[in-house]
Amino acid sequence: MKILIINGPNLNLLGRREPGIYGSNTMESCLASLRRRYPDIDIEYFQSNSEGALIDRIHAVGFDDTYRGIVLNAGAYTHTSLAIADAISAITLPVVEVHISNVASREPIRHTSLITSVCRGVIAGFGLDSYRLGIESLL
Ligand code: DQA
Repeated sequence: MKILIINGPNLNLLGRREPGIYGSNTMESCLASLRRRYPDIDIEYFQSNSEGALIDRIHAVGFDDTYRGIVLNAGAYTHTSLAIADAISAITLPVVEVHISNVASREPIRHTSLITSVCRGVIAGFGLDSYRLGIESLL
């Protein structure tokens, strides 16, 4: 079984980016611990700072039923991208929206998500553990 984790813009800087909000662990260490925890799941990872590349990757796996689903942290595109919402609507795989921080307790602009309504559910505010909870929600 495969699960694809997709991270959007600026999430390549995890560990260095605003550690007071996003913590000091890297995505690489998070992925290593997820792969140790779920040895039977093929956990793929993709990160891009480009909206189009994120959409292309969603399309590429979106009809492939060897995947259980997509765990998506769209970063700031969460709040702006109708195009990513449309891509999620277009595919058949379930998508779980995740956020490291509790977006509801941050600036008002982060309270709006254009993707929540087309995702299976939302996990936010548990630090990098949000990715594990996202995987759990697909099992
Ligand atoms: C984020 C929250 C977004 O508002 C922000 O733009 C990010 C990260 C999170 O994981 O908490 O880049 O998605």
